[in-house]
Amino acid sequence: MGTWELNIKYLIGIDIGTSGTKVILINTRGKVLAKGLHEYPLFAPKPGWAEQDPEAWWAAVVKGIKEVIKNIRPSEIAGIGLSGQMHGLVALDKNNKVLRPAILWCDQRTVKQCAYITRKIGAARLIKLVSNPALTGFTAGKILWMKENEPGLYKKTAKFLLPKDYIRFKLTGEFATEVSDASGTLLLDIARRKWSETLLKELKIDRRLLPVCRESEEIGGYIDRKAAGLTGLSVRTPVGGGAGDQAASAVGCGIVESGIISVTLGTSGVVFAFSDKLKLDKQGRIHTFCHAVKGKWHTMGVMLSAGGSLKWFKDNLCKEELALAAKKKLDPYEIILKGLDRIAPGSERLLFLPYLCGERTPYADPYARGAFIGLEPRHNKKHMARAVLEGVSFGLRDSLEIMRSLKIPVKQIRVTGGGAGSKLWLQMLADIFGQEVVTVKLTEGGALGAALLAGKSAGVYKDLSGICKKLIRAGKSYKPDKKKALLYNGYYELYKKTYRNLKEEFKELSGLR
Ligand code: XUL
Repeated sequence: MGTWELNIKYLIGIDIGTSGTKVILINTRGKVLAKGLHEYPLFAPKPGWAEQDPEAWWAAVVKGIKEVIKNIRPSEIAGIGLSGQMHGLVALDKNNKVLRPAILWCDQRTVKQCAYITRKIGAARLIKLVSNPALTGFTAGKILWMKENEPGLYKKTAKFLLPKDYIRFKLTGEFATEVSDASGTLLLDIARRKWSETLLKELKIDRRLLPVCRESEEIGGYIDRKAAGLTGLSVRTPVGGGAGDQAASAVGCGIVESGIISVTLGTSGVVFAFSDKLKLDKQGRIHTFCHAVKGKWHTMGVMLSAGGSLKWFKDNLCKEELALAAKKKLDPYEIILKGLDRIAPGSERLLFLPYLCGERTPYADPYARGAFIGLEPRHNKKHMARAVLEGVSFGLRDSLEIMRSLKIPVKQIRVTGGGAGSKLWLQMLADIFGQEVVTVKLTEGGALGAALLAGKSAGVYKDLSGICKKLIRAGKSYKPDKKKALLYNGYYELYKKTYRNLKEEFKELSGLR
């Protein structure tokens, strides 16, 4: 750090999330000095669709930056880091205008296109070429969907960008991405860390439509005059390569060495493991992506509705709790989760399947749906709330079990995201995983990871792993209760069986009017 630390004091991390954008200002020792959070809506014009306006992200970024730099000299900012929701498709025309709303990671419209990709390339060959199967959330299917359904707009497209890379374009005027986010397009040769010419050719996607792809630790542009005018930042401030939100969050959580796994409880639920070497799941159940740490990879299981399931429960079934929370100025989740520890594990024989928006890991099933199974007259809202937490935890265990079966070492499990604020949920995770879980002391996730990555890109830090190990430490630990763990094992087996038994019915249901 040395002289840099004396002369240049600050780093900015920006995380373009699904519900809002978070901007943080940190000093080079990782201390968070200021924060700005601005929300925007998500649109679902048809069932299974999920879209957002990229200009809303940009407006939130500009507001957030202005807020966090108001008390400092912008010339003292060493670098800006970007993190963002992965897999989204932003299409720009030749004048750099957004052509249509962004199609998001949780959008399920590309079932037909994914089937086409799998047929055309071959399931096993896909894993060989890009390390992953064609999943509806991934970007390649969205490009083909646009080509097929909006040919006029497709013809006008000059560039496809991922969400955070659209913000990079607005900040720097550069069309660039980096390996961790590009991994989620299905168009990156994950082993070689570059666009897969073979796949692009066979899917007839013009290479020139994609941005350049670099390592996440490299510089990905500099603040241009226009962005400086709008945000108050200094011209030529470096913008780091950044990372997809999961890789950035992993950096922000210290997942930079083998054996430490993170579980992130956001809208989605993610189990993330660092990997020195490329580790493939031949069945394609978990994702194999490039990590933001140079020359490293990661494996990752993604549940689409983790915190999202609880949010659905709160918004749709907890009107009284919401009113009470507003009156008492409390967090509604505090009221909803209160007293759940008095209900026995298994919610007294009530199961919840958390597949409200379909599921990615382990089923890759866009037709799967949510369900309460086993309702009895004695069950009330508290039982249902507990069953939701348990269902999500079982879903996370699915990813963990795949990792264990692939011999990925699981020495420590770090839990982050909104859900990590609940002691009840943390203990439940330990009991359901049958393994100790810990919290982390710094909890800014993707925004922190992005800021640290920017520090590496700008030369403030020499070694990303080193600085993560120094700054990010494990917090409180939760050990499994043997009796409860045993009980949960039985419920977990049944949880898996209920999905298998309902799979066809879910598909049939999706075909009804
Ligand atoms: C990761 C994924 C989500 C989004 C939104 O593969 O789809 O985690 O990045 O957070």
